[in-house]
Amino acid sequence: RTLGELALRIAHARALYRPLGEGGPPAIAQLLEREGALGATARIRVTSADPTDERASCLRAWGDAYRAQGGRIDLTDPERTFRVVSGTGGGSTYVLLEQLRVVDRKALHARRPGSQAFRQPVTLSSRLARTLVNLAEAPVGGTLLDPFCGTGAIPREAGLLGHPVFVSDRSAKMLRGTLRNLAVAGITPELAGVADVSELPGLLGDRPRVSALVTDPPYGRASSTGGEGWRDLLSRLYTLVPAIVGAEGTCVMLLPLPDPDLPLPTGWRGRSLGLAERVHASLSRYVYRLEGPHHLPAPGRANVSAGLPGRAL
Ligand SMILES: C[S@@+](CC[C@H](N)C(=O)[O-])C[C@H]1O[C@@H](n2cnc3c(N)ncnc32)[C@H](O)[C@@H]1O
Repeated sequence: RTLGELALRIAHARALYRPLGEGGPPAIAQLLEREGALGATARIRVTSADPTDERASCLRAWGDAYRAQGGRIDLTDPERTFRVVSGTGGGSTYVLLEQLRVVDRKALHARRPGSQAFRQPVTLSSRLARTLVNLAEAPVGGTLLDPFCGTGAIPREAGLLGHPVFVSDRSAKMLRGTLRNLAVAGITPELAGVADVSELPGLLGDRPRVSALVTDPPYGRASSTGGEGWRDLLSRLYTLVPAIVGAEGTCVMLLPLPDPDLPLPTGWRGRSLGLAERVHASLSRYVYRLEGPHHLPAPGRANVSAGLPGRAL
């Protein structure tokens, strides 16, 4: 179940794999023989564009190794799928992976900006919006707020992952567009309002703090700040963050530079999580995260930035 949930959340990968071992062709054969002893049907894949790739010539021997202890090969409906990829040592070293789940990339593609009911040039890709939501590390069922919701790409991904969402924007037209896009996705926000960021406390009233604020603020390029410098706008948001987000929470933002270098709310930490995308020669977007005084990163997530698309793995 956990793997299924993880595969559902993933934004950029094609599948989840478990590494079973690494080595030259004989070592891979040994690993496959051991797996074959479990008796399941399997398919072994060695996708490569190069017809002279050594792996293609090993495939028969690897299949034989899998069958040696009772395993069976089934190319159409196997119980297990293995993949042999290049190893970290280069040359003739390979890694044997077992595919655990395939990510439903078609569904993400179906929500691309061009196919939305209400779209604007500022609309984020569903992949990037989902990445931002994931990087917030909000607990299951935790509420997410996007106070610059625009066309609603972030709250839509959050809602589809099961988070209750609060949305606001100072533009009534944008808020209406968000509500339209959320309705198409079957999401009803728990709270929606036209508000400048400074009006957020009034909009939220006495509701409990949210788990995370995830947003894509305007920088005065594709989307207007009303003449205000984007760093001033961000400073106004920063002063409100502790009152809006719990101490365990986070505030994840997409910014035009790695670190806005602004004074942080008391007790909060700021972390640059890396390059998200290069929009054009003079604009790249980076992910920056504010972490509450009690925020503990999820285990095994020492380098969350490694999952971002613009960063080499
Ligand atoms: C970059 S867009 C958000 C795009 C959104 N992520 C999407 O996928 O459509 C920024 C939004 O911030 C809103 N905005 C600008 N200044 C604001 C302010 N002071 N308070 C609240 N919203 C503001 C704009 O109306 C715009 O919709």
